[in-house]
Amino acid sequence: MKTYHESNERLVTKVFQDVFDKYDLMNDLMSLGIHRLWKKNFINWLNPHKKTTLIDVASGTGDIAKLYLEKINYDGFAYCVDENKSMLELNKKKFKKNANVKWYCNNAEKLPFKNNYFDYYTISFGIRNVNNLNNALKEAHRVLKPGGRFLCLEFSKVKNEILNKFYKIYSRSIPQIGKLVVGKSEPYEYLINSIEEFYSQEEFFKQIKKQNFTNVSFRNLNGGIVAIHSAWKV
Ligand SMILES: C[S@@+](CC[C@H](N)C(=O)[O-])C[C@H]1O[C@@H](n2cnc3c(N)ncnc32)[C@H](O)[C@@H]1O
Repeated sequence: MKTYHESNERLVTKVFQDVFDKYDLMNDLMSLGIHRLWKKNFINWLNPHKKTTLIDVASGTGDIAKLYLEKINYDGFAYCVDENKSMLELNKKKFKKNANVKWYCNNAEKLPFKNNYFDYYTISFGIRNVNNLNNALKEAHRVLKPGGRFLCLEFSKVKNEILNKFYKIYSRSIPQIGKLVVGKSEPYEYLINSIEEFYSQEEFFKQIKKQNFTNVSFRNLNGGIVAIHSAWKV
């Protein structure tokens, strides 16, 4: 098992560079707005406390960091990390002038933070894109404080055969939507392929466990179209 682009590290960077300015719009169109519910569900499960610090890796345009800060009434800090500068620029705009947010252009596999620093590590629709999954998980574990929590939202495997059939048919239309809205279908071909090639819930669960996390568990949303993976550092 692998992340989709293990053989082609640069492809991911190019994909997000091609779509960054239409990223939010395409998320709403492709998921019919449902990604907003998934993200709310994600933050509800995180249930963050005030006066905590979150690192949101592969932060993109900042949806998760924003929901986290709203949930704790801005009484805490969010560090947004993404390897793509253009995505981070959009991320910054979402927060306007907020002293509680910091932005870092870095790779998930090599985070510029000391050990045992964060209360929460989140990654939403990002882990599938990293070059080496184990390196990213190791870094997540390293930067979390003992007692800190890892939470990951990612596309997963649909268990119900009928739902899966419809989902597959719908997925195949996504590159065409991309062509219409963004003028390019290739980034969305990448998206569909990367989802198909990524781990199942159970396989990913094992990968997380391998990195010394405890209380590892997951929840399926919408029949497994996406799953939330939770784990703790002791
Ligand atoms: C699908 S977007 C997800 C954005 C956001 N978290 C969300 O849920 O909407 C994936 C993001 O991961 C970033 N990314 C991909 N590989 C990365 C890596 N190795 N390190 C850091 N960011 C990465 C991309 O630049 C992109 O902004």
